Amino acid sequence: MNCNYLAFEGIDGSGKTTFIDEISLKLTKLSTDFKIVREPGGSKLSEGIRELLLSHEYKVDPTAESLLFSASRAQLIEEIVKPSIESGQVVITDRSAYSSVAYQGVGRGLGYQKVYDLNDFAIGSYWPEKVVLLDIDPEISLSRQKVADRIGSDEVSFFKKVREGYLQLAQDFNSKFLVIDAEDSQQNNFRVVSEWLGLEES
Ligand code: TYD
Repeated sequence: MNCNYLAFEGIDGSGKTTFIDEISLKLTKLSTDFKIVREPGGSKLSEGIRELLLSHEYKVDPTAESLLFSASRAQLIEEIVKPSIESGQVVITDRSAYSSVAYQGVGRGLGYQKVYDLNDFAIGSYWPEKVVLLDIDPEISLSRQKVADRIGSDEVSFFKKVREGYLQLAQDFNSKFLVIDAEDSQQNNFRVVSEWLGLEES
């Protein structure tokens, strides 16, 4: 695999989890030493923050939301991601700081650059090396969702903004982003991603 820290991104219901499962099977076949983490979460403290963030029980102000996501991320990076990469493992993350730029920065309207800078502070510039963005129309992705958490149950208009945020990120960081049409055949998409990551079987 041609990178050590890979993120899967996309709006709720874009099919990230299925994709990560496929990649895991492939990496296992290739005997690659890898670890999968998810955001928010991935460490004990971060999973605690995840519960606060996603429960329907709390009313969460957008700034507080953004700070909680970045706190959860700061802990995950220090406790798990950095040591894993330093020990030679590949880390694959289900969401990353780019989710915050799209969801809190653009979706909630806190500001793309402001949330980018907040996260840069939180993770000490430990941004994923490569990002696969599963792009999809929110009307379609939301209809696929079975159970929605607090953020996932927001309105379509919110997810339209989040999608625009993601596409802006892909444009601004085009050398590290691969944008995939999540409505295309999964098999074909998987082939494109595998090739981009240099996952050929020997
Ligand atoms: P997640 O379990 O990742 O859901 P999904 O399977 O839809 O990806 O849920 C995380 C929710 O939190 C999801 O609605 C996206 C949102 N989120 C943010 O708003 N900002 C962030 O920085 C992250 C990591 C997630």
